[in-house]
Amino acid sequence: MSSFNFDMLASIYDATRGYPRDVALRIAQALDEASTAGPQTRFLEIGVGTGRIALPLANLGRDLTGIDISERMLARLEHKLRAEDWQEERLAWGDLPDEQGQPQQAWGKRFQRTEPDAHMRIAVADVHHLPFAAVSFEVIIAVHVLHLVDDWRQVLQEVRRVATPDGMFLHCGDEHGPSDVQEVRAQWRRILAELGYDEQELYQPSDTELQHACAELGWQAVRWIALTWERAITPRQVLEGILQRNWSSMRRVPDAVFQEGCRRLEQWAYAYFGAGIDTVRKQEQRFIITRYQAQAQER
Ligand SMILES: C[S@@+](CC[C@H](N)C(=O)[O-])C[C@H]1O[C@@H](n2cnc3c(N)ncnc32)[C@H](O)[C@@H]1O
Repeated sequence: MSSFNFDMLASIYDATRGYPRDVALRIAQALDEASTAGPQTRFLEIGVGTGRIALPLANLGRDLTGIDISERMLARLEHKLRAEDWQEERLAWGDLPDEQGQPQQAWGKRFQRTEPDAHMRIAVADVHHLPFAAVSFEVIIAVHVLHLVDDWRQVLQEVRRVATPDGMFLHCGDEHGPSDVQEVRAQWRRILAELGYDEQELYQPSDTELQHACAELGWQAVRWIALTWERAITPRQVLEGILQRNWSSMRRVPDAVFQEGCRRLEQWAYAYFGAGIDTVRKQEQRFIITRYQAQAQER
């Protein structure tokens, strides 16, 4: 599998994607509420990364497993767990009843904390081949990951396999409200097209495709905006994010195209925004949850 591995973005991930602390907590609470979870609920996050979503949720007193193919992203998560005083439980892989095979490459680790009681297990594994027995999790979460994998349909099959019959799949993501800072990304795409590179190569299944594929697995969808907040951002910050190749899509652009693209984008941005390039804009952010479940429950 040649899914996009985030090793090269691990050191900047939290600084560039992290939520404000109160937003992270509200997202965790929204996911907890969406899952109608209790202390016995077993959560799995596929593509857990640095635990941006998973750690605040586990901290509510939940039992959460996170898998990722990036050892460096998981190392960041492990660092945060230790910093927040989670204690490692020393168990061999296979000691817990749902663990099967080996986590794909390297390691699986388990941590626990008290007050509230919580468990977190992290493992290096490919989401196309989850190293867990069938029917192991009540809630499976995916946030910004399906566009990175080779075969999202196979991933869905795996998710369905490890879910309990009345379990659920929470597919989530961030959306931005309108703002002229979006023009920077739009111009970047136009420049890439001028240079003969099609950024759409990154394939993100549409909501409709996902809903059809999930319906075939017996899952119905309910989608809602779980929360909104406001961020302060300048056009220069968006520009810098591209120039510094902070996003996975930019890492895929061939170097020569990227360099020429940056030269053109910078020139365009100073001309288009003028002195306003450093003016702060307020932009609405939204966290969207789509819950897939055999018996769709309206909210
Ligand atoms: C954009 S990050 C999202 C991380 C986390 N869900 C969040 O929202 O902060 C995507 C993560 O998916 C992981 N990933 C990509 N392909 C994967 C695969 N085939 N199996 C497991 N993880 C994968 C990447 O390594 C990365 O950590």
